[in-house]
Amino acid sequence: MDQPVSSHAPLPGRDPVLSRRSIRRYTDAPVDDALVERLLRAAMAAPSAGNQQPWRFIVIRERATLAQIPEWHPYAKMLPSAPVAVVVLGDPGDAKWKTLWPQDCAACVQNMLIEAELLGLGAVWLGVHPLPEREAALRELLAIPEHVVPFAIVPFGWPQARKEPSDRYDEERVHHERW
Ligand SMILES: Cc1cc2nc3c(=O)[nH]c(=O)nc-3n(C[C@H](O)[C@H](O)[C@H](O)COP(=O)(O)O)c2cc1C
Repeated sequence: MDQPVSSHAPLPGRDPVLSRRSIRRYTDAPVDDALVERLLRAAMAAPSAGNQQPWRFIVIRERATLAQIPEWHPYAKMLPSAPVAVVVLGDPGDAKWKTLWPQDCAACVQNMLIEAELLGLGAVWLGVHPLPEREAALRELLAIPEHVVPFAIVPFGWPQARKEPSDRYDEERVHHERW
């Protein structure tokens, strides 16, 4: 008898969720506005609590702006070499549930990473929230208003090299029925 479709393990390398890796080295080739729009469309397709969509975005192409971020973000030295970066921000005041916006923003970052993988682009999630010093530095650099919280920065570019998928499936982390 045929196996039900849901029991087939997706093949690493073909499934964008399984093949996605953090890419931190990019070629000089540009990423055009149409691709950035696809990434943002994927971001905004994410689930959010009460469908409140508290996310906001700042697209940065200015090299001089990107070059300032590694001055205070210790793990962002790839940024000046990326053709484009998207800052994801949350507007908690806009949401019905004021505490759930980080989950909503995380879902939209992950959606962008997977869309990038589908497009052949490289990307990496650079953490900002909830680290106060990174939030403050980004707020000043990008003139972000007080009621909006910078959540993450995601640089995008064409990968200098692809990385192998990383299979992290670990049965020991999974409990069934109860802990
Ligand atoms: C919340 C969060 C913050 C992260 N911050 C950084 C960062 O500041 N700089 C960086 O190079 N990678 C950052 N990463 C990427 C992780 O280092 C990476 O996802 C992890 O090492 C697993 O590797 P992979 O993405 O290639 O599977 C972050 C990832 C997450 C989810």
